[in-house]
Amino acid sequence: MKATIVIHGGAINPDSGEFAEGVSRAAQKGMEVLASGGSSLDAVTKAIQLLEQDPIFNAGLGAWPNLSGEVELDAIIMEGANLRAGAVAAAQNLKSPIGVARKVMEETDHILLAGRGAESFARAFNLYEEHKVPEFRMKEWSALKKKLQLGEDVPMLQYWKKIKKWADQGDTVGAVAIDHEGLISAATSSGGFPMKLPGRVGDVPIIGCSTYADNNAGGVSITGHGEVVMTYSLAKSCIELMRNGISAQMAIESMAEMINNRTKGKIILCIIGIDKNGRAGLVRNIDATPHALFDETMKVPKVQFAKKVVLN
Ligand code: GLY
Repeated sequence: MKATIVIHGGAINPDSGEFAEGVSRAAQKGMEVLASGGSSLDAVTKAIQLLEQDPIFNAGLGAWPNLSGEVELDAIIMEGANLRAGAVAAAQNLKSPIGVARKVMEETDHILLAGRGAESFARAFNLYEEHKVPEFRMKEWSALKKKLQLGEDVPMLQYWKKIKKWADQGDTVGAVAIDHEGLISAATSSGGFPMKLPGRVGDVPIIGCSTYADNNAGGVSITGHGEVVMTYSLAKSCIELMRNGISAQMAIESMAEMINNRTKGKIILCIIGIDKNGRAGLVRNIDATPHALFDETMKVPKVQFAKKVVLN
Protein backbone atom coordinates (compact mmCIF):
# COMPACT_ATOMS: atom_id res chain seq x y z
CA MET A 1 0.00 0.00 0.00
CA LYS A 2 1.21 3.53 -0.83
CA ALA A 3 1.70 5.38 2.48
CA THR A 4 -0.34 8.60 2.67
CA ILE A 5 -1.22 11.18 5.32
CA VAL A 6 -3.74 14.03 5.28
CA ILE A 7 -3.94 16.81 7.86
CA HIS A 8 -6.32 19.64 8.74
CA GLY A 9 -5.64 22.56 11.05
CA GLY A 10 -9.08 23.90 12.01
CA ALA A 11 -12.02 25.08 9.94
CA ILE A 12 -11.78 28.80 10.69
CA ASN A 13 -8.02 29.24 10.43
CA PRO A 14 -6.57 30.68 7.20
CA ASP A 15 -5.24 28.12 4.71
CA SER A 16 -2.04 30.07 4.02
CA GLY A 17 1.04 31.52 5.76
CA GLU A 18 2.09 30.09 9.13
CA PHE A 19 -1.02 27.87 9.26
CA ALA A 20 -0.18 26.21 5.91
CA GLU A 21 3.43 25.82 7.06
CA GLY A 22 2.24 24.24 10.32
CA VAL A 23 0.06 21.56 8.67
CA SER A 24 2.78 20.93 6.09
CA ARG A 25 5.34 20.29 8.87
CA ALA A 26 2.85 17.92 10.55
CA ALA A 27 2.37 16.00 7.26
CA GLN A 28 6.16 15.70 6.92
CA LYS A 29 6.45 14.46 10.52
CA GLY A 30 3.83 11.77 9.85
CA MET A 31 5.48 10.80 6.55
CA GLU A 32 8.86 10.32 8.30
CA VAL A 33 7.18 7.61 10.37
CA LEU A 34 5.36 6.00 7.40
CA ALA A 35 8.35 6.09 5.02
CA SER A 36 10.53 4.27 7.55
CA GLY A 37 7.95 1.47 7.81
CA GLY A 38 6.24 2.81 10.94
CA SER A 39 2.51 2.45 11.60
CA SER A 40 -0.21 4.94 10.67
CA LEU A 41 -1.09 5.02 14.40
CA ASP A 42 2.37 6.40 15.22
CA ALA A 43 2.19 8.72 12.20
CA VAL A 44 -1.09 10.42 13.23
CA THR A 45 0.05 10.56 16.89
CA LYS A 46 3.32 12.33 15.99
CA ALA A 47 1.59 14.67 13.49
CA ILE A 48 -1.07 15.74 16.00
CA GLN A 49 1.47 16.14 18.80
CA LEU A 50 3.39 18.60 16.62
CA LEU A 51 0.21 20.62 16.04
CA GLU A 52 -0.68 20.48 19.75
CA GLN A 53 2.70 22.05 20.53
CA ASP A 54 2.25 24.84 17.96
CA PRO A 55 0.34 27.63 19.78
CA ILE A 56 -1.34 29.02 16.64
CA PHE A 57 -3.63 25.97 16.47
CA ASN A 58 -6.66 25.43 18.73
CA ALA A 59 -5.41 22.21 20.32
CA GLY A 60 -3.06 21.46 23.21
CA LEU A 61 -0.91 24.51 24.01
CA GLY A 62 -2.88 27.00 21.87
CA ALA A 63 -6.36 25.74 22.85
CA TRP A 64 -9.08 28.37 23.19
CA PRO A 65 -10.34 28.90 26.75
CA ASN A 66 -14.04 28.31 27.40
CA LEU A 67 -16.48 31.00 28.53
CA SER A 68 -14.95 31.00 32.04
CA GLY A 69 -11.42 31.45 30.69
CA GLU A 70 -10.38 27.86 31.39
CA VAL A 71 -9.01 25.43 28.83
CA GLU A 72 -10.91 22.12 28.49
CA LEU A 73 -9.39 19.72 26.00
CA ASP A 74 -11.01 17.09 23.74
CA ALA A 75 -9.09 14.47 21.71
CA ILE A 76 -9.59 11.08 20.08
CA ILE A 77 -7.51 8.47 18.25
CA MET A 78 -8.66 5.32 16.43
CA GLU A 79 -7.09 2.48 14.44
CA GLY A 80 -8.93 0.58 11.75
CA ALA A 81 -7.63 -3.00 12.11
CA ASN A 82 -9.36 -3.85 15.40
CA LEU A 83 -11.51 -0.69 15.76
CA ARG A 84 -9.68 0.30 18.95
CA ALA A 85 -10.23 3.91 20.06
CA GLY A 86 -9.27 6.16 22.97
CA ALA A 87 -10.47 9.64 23.85
CA VAL A 88 -10.43 12.39 26.48
CA ALA A 89 -13.12 15.04 27.02
CA ALA A 90 -13.31 18.35 28.90
CA ALA A 91 -9.93 17.60 30.51
CA GLN A 92 -7.54 20.24 31.82
CA ASN A 93 -3.76 20.27 32.19
CA LEU A 94 -2.81 17.54 29.73
CA LYS A 95 0.70 17.68 28.26
CA SER A 96 -0.52 15.97 25.07
CA PRO A 97 -4.28 15.34 24.78
CA ILE A 98 -3.73 12.92 21.87
CA GLY A 99 -1.01 11.14 23.87
CA VAL A 100 -3.44 10.65 26.77
CA ALA A 101 -6.18 9.50 24.36
CA ARG A 102 -3.77 6.89 23.01
CA LYS A 103 -3.02 5.70 26.55
CA VAL A 104 -6.79 5.37 27.18
CA MET A 105 -6.93 3.15 24.07
CA GLU A 106 -3.90 1.04 24.95
CA GLU A 107 -3.93 0.92 28.76
CA THR A 108 -7.63 0.77 29.72
CA ASP A 109 -10.81 -1.12 28.85
CA HIS A 110 -12.59 2.16 28.10
CA ILE A 111 -12.88 4.47 25.11
CA LEU A 112 -13.49 7.86 26.76
CA LEU A 113 -12.25 9.46 30.01
CA ALA A 114 -13.56 12.90 30.97
CA GLY A 115 -12.58 15.77 33.27
CA ARG A 116 -10.75 15.03 36.51
CA GLY A 117 -10.65 11.30 35.76
CA ALA A 118 -8.69 11.96 32.57
CA GLU A 119 -6.37 14.31 34.45
CA SER A 120 -5.46 11.83 37.18
CA PHE A 121 -5.06 9.09 34.55
CA ALA A 122 -2.61 11.39 32.70
CA ARG A 123 -0.51 11.76 35.89
CA ALA A 124 0.21 8.02 35.80
CA PHE A 125 1.97 8.48 32.44
CA ASN A 126 3.72 11.75 33.16
CA LEU A 127 1.31 13.48 30.77
CA TYR A 128 -0.12 15.93 33.33
CA GLU A 129 1.15 19.52 33.04
CA GLU A 130 -0.28 22.80 34.37
CA HIS A 131 -1.75 24.54 31.32
CA LYS A 132 -0.60 28.10 30.73
CA VAL A 133 -2.67 29.84 28.06
CA PRO A 134 -0.35 31.80 25.72
CA GLU A 135 -0.64 35.58 26.22
CA PHE A 136 -1.82 36.22 22.63
CA ARG A 137 -4.64 33.68 23.04
CA MET A 138 -5.78 35.28 26.33
CA LYS A 139 -5.95 38.66 24.54
CA GLU A 140 -7.98 37.13 21.70
CA TRP A 141 -10.26 35.50 24.30
CA SER A 142 -10.88 38.81 26.14
CA ALA A 143 -11.67 40.61 22.87
CA LEU A 144 -14.06 37.85 21.77
CA LYS A 145 -15.79 37.73 25.14
CA LYS A 146 -16.45 41.49 24.90
CA LYS A 147 -18.00 40.95 21.48
CA LEU A 148 -20.18 38.20 22.92
CA GLN A 149 -21.34 40.48 25.73
CA LEU A 150 -22.09 43.25 23.26
CA GLY A 151 -24.00 40.84 21.04
CA GLU A 152 -21.76 41.57 18.05
CA ASP A 153 -22.23 39.42 14.99
CA VAL A 154 -18.83 37.78 14.36
CA PRO A 155 -18.23 34.42 12.64
CA MET A 156 -16.83 32.61 15.68
CA LEU A 157 -19.92 33.46 17.76
CA GLN A 158 -22.59 32.78 15.15
CA TYR A 159 -23.48 29.36 16.60
CA TRP A 160 -23.96 30.49 20.17
CA LYS A 161 -27.51 31.88 20.25
CA LYS A 162 -28.30 30.92 23.86
CA ILE A 163 -24.87 31.19 25.46
CA LYS A 164 -24.91 35.00 25.41
CA LYS A 165 -27.16 34.97 28.45
CA TRP A 166 -24.54 33.00 30.40
CA ALA A 167 -21.82 35.44 29.45
CA ASP A 168 -22.38 38.30 31.66
CA GLN A 169 -20.13 39.09 30.66
CA GLY A 170 -10.57 27.97 15.84
CA ASP A 171 -10.86 25.05 16.25
CA THR A 172 -9.47 21.59 15.91
CA VAL A 173 -6.55 19.73 14.32
CA GLY A 174 -6.79 16.32 12.68
CA ALA A 175 -4.81 13.65 10.83
CA VAL A 176 -5.66 10.49 8.87
CA ALA A 177 -2.99 8.10 7.57
CA ILE A 178 -2.57 4.74 5.87
CA ASP A 179 0.68 2.77 6.16
CA HIS A 180 2.41 0.15 4.02
CA GLU A 181 0.44 -2.63 5.74
CA GLY A 182 -2.89 -0.95 4.92
CA LEU A 183 -3.58 0.06 8.55
CA ILE A 184 -5.74 3.21 8.60
CA SER A 185 -5.59 5.48 11.68
CA ALA A 186 -7.24 8.80 12.46
CA ALA A 187 -6.75 11.34 15.26
CA THR A 188 -8.34 14.68 16.22
CA SER A 189 -7.50 17.13 19.02
CA SER A 190 -9.19 20.38 20.05
CA GLY A 191 -9.71 23.07 22.62
CA GLY A 192 -13.33 23.02 21.46
CA PHE A 193 -15.24 25.86 19.91
CA PRO A 194 -14.32 29.27 21.37
CA MET A 195 -16.66 30.52 24.15
CA LYS A 196 -18.24 27.12 24.76
CA LEU A 197 -19.86 26.68 28.17
CA PRO A 198 -17.68 25.00 30.81
CA GLY A 199 -18.30 21.24 30.68
CA ARG A 200 -19.43 21.29 27.05
CA VAL A 201 -18.16 18.25 25.16
CA GLY A 202 -18.16 18.63 21.39
CA ASP A 203 -17.90 16.24 18.48
CA VAL A 204 -14.17 15.64 18.86
CA PRO A 205 -13.97 12.90 21.54
CA ILE A 206 -17.24 11.16 20.60
CA ILE A 207 -16.47 8.12 18.46
CA GLY A 208 -18.01 8.35 14.98
CA CYS A 209 -18.58 12.11 15.15
CA SER A 210 -15.28 13.91 14.41
CA THR A 211 -13.25 10.78 13.82
CA TYR A 212 -13.46 7.16 12.70
CA ALA A 213 -11.14 4.52 11.22
CA ASP A 214 -11.92 1.09 9.80
CA ASN A 215 -9.56 -0.77 7.46
CA ASN A 216 -12.60 -2.22 5.64
CA ALA A 217 -13.88 1.25 4.75
CA GLY A 218 -11.54 4.20 5.46
CA GLY A 219 -10.59 6.90 7.96
CA VAL A 220 -11.96 10.40 8.58
CA SER A 221 -11.21 13.50 10.68
CA ILE A 222 -13.51 16.54 10.76
CA THR A 223 -13.28 20.15 11.91
CA GLY A 224 -16.19 22.57 12.17
CA HIS A 225 -19.29 23.27 14.21
CA GLY A 226 -19.28 20.36 16.66
CA GLU A 227 -22.98 20.28 17.52
CA VAL A 228 -23.90 19.84 13.84
CA VAL A 229 -21.14 17.28 13.27
CA MET A 230 -22.56 15.30 16.24
CA THR A 231 -26.12 15.51 14.94
CA TYR A 232 -25.12 13.69 11.77
CA SER A 233 -22.60 11.26 13.38
CA LEU A 234 -20.68 12.65 10.49
CA ALA A 235 -17.43 10.68 10.50
CA LYS A 236 -19.29 7.36 10.67
CA SER A 237 -21.70 8.48 7.94
CA CYS A 238 -18.75 9.19 5.61
CA ILE A 239 -17.18 5.84 6.52
CA GLU A 240 -20.35 3.89 5.66
CA LEU A 241 -20.32 5.41 2.16
CA MET A 242 -16.68 4.36 1.75
CA ARG A 243 -17.53 0.85 2.97
CA ASN A 244 -19.77 0.53 -0.09
CA GLY A 245 -16.76 1.26 -2.33
CA ILE A 246 -17.26 4.99 -2.84
CA SER A 247 -13.95 6.91 -2.92
CA ALA A 248 -12.95 9.08 0.06
CA GLN A 249 -13.34 12.25 -2.01
CA MET A 250 -16.83 11.31 -3.29
CA ALA A 251 -18.00 10.17 0.16
CA ILE A 252 -16.91 13.25 2.11
CA GLU A 253 -17.96 15.59 -0.68
CA SER A 254 -21.49 14.18 -0.81
CA MET A 255 -21.89 14.40 2.99
CA ALA A 256 -20.45 17.93 3.09
CA GLU A 257 -22.76 19.02 0.26
CA MET A 258 -25.82 17.54 1.96
CA ILE A 259 -25.09 19.25 5.29
CA ASN A 260 -24.11 22.53 3.62
CA ASN A 261 -27.44 22.59 1.76
CA ARG A 262 -29.49 21.45 4.75
CA THR A 263 -27.98 24.18 6.97
CA LYS A 264 -28.17 26.76 4.14
CA GLY A 265 -24.39 27.20 4.27
CA LYS A 266 -24.53 28.53 7.81
CA ILE A 267 -22.10 26.09 9.39
CA ILE A 268 -18.38 25.68 8.80
CA LEU A 269 -16.96 22.33 7.90
CA CYS A 270 -13.80 20.63 6.64
CA ILE A 271 -13.49 16.86 6.23
CA ILE A 272 -10.36 14.88 5.41
CA GLY A 273 -10.26 11.15 4.70
CA ILE A 274 -8.51 8.16 3.17
CA ASP A 275 -10.46 5.18 1.84
CA LYS A 276 -9.57 1.47 2.11
CA ASN A 277 -7.87 1.65 -1.32
CA GLY A 278 -5.55 4.42 -0.11
CA ARG A 279 -7.24 7.29 -1.99
CA ALA A 280 -7.25 10.59 -0.08
CA GLY A 281 -10.06 13.16 -0.04
CA LEU A 282 -10.28 16.73 1.30
CA VAL A 283 -13.31 19.02 1.25
CA ARG A 284 -14.41 22.27 2.93
CA ASN A 285 -17.25 24.75 2.62
CA ILE A 286 -15.27 27.95 3.34
CA ASP A 287 -12.23 29.76 1.95
CA ALA A 288 -10.18 28.78 4.98
CA THR A 289 -8.90 25.70 6.86
CA PRO A 290 -5.20 24.88 6.57
CA HIS A 291 -4.75 21.39 5.16
CA ALA A 292 -2.01 19.18 3.70
CA LEU A 293 -1.72 15.93 1.73
CA PHE A 294 1.52 13.93 1.57
CA ASP A 295 1.98 10.55 -0.10
CA GLU A 296 5.26 8.82 -0.68
CA THR A 297 5.36 9.62 -4.41
CA MET A 298 5.43 13.36 -3.58
CA LYS A 299 8.52 15.45 -2.75
CA VAL A 300 6.69 17.96 -0.52
CA PRO A 301 3.18 18.11 0.97
CA LYS A 302 0.46 19.69 -1.16
CA VAL A 303 -1.46 22.56 0.49
CA GLN A 304 -4.32 24.97 -0.41
CA PHE A 305 -6.15 22.72 -2.86
CA ALA A 306 -9.13 21.13 -1.04
CA LYS A 307 -12.38 21.27 -3.01
CA LYS A 308 -14.91 23.78 -1.73
CA VAL A 309 -18.56 22.73 -1.79
CA VAL A 310 -21.10 25.45 -2.53
CA LEU A 311 -24.84 25.82 -1.95
CA ASN A 312 -27.07 24.36 -4.64
N1 GLY B 1 -15.33 20.74 16.18
C1 GLY B 1 -14.82 21.23 17.38
C2 GLY B 1 -15.84 21.66 18.35
O1 GLY B 1 -16.96 22.03 17.97
O2 GLY B 1 -15.55 21.64 19.53
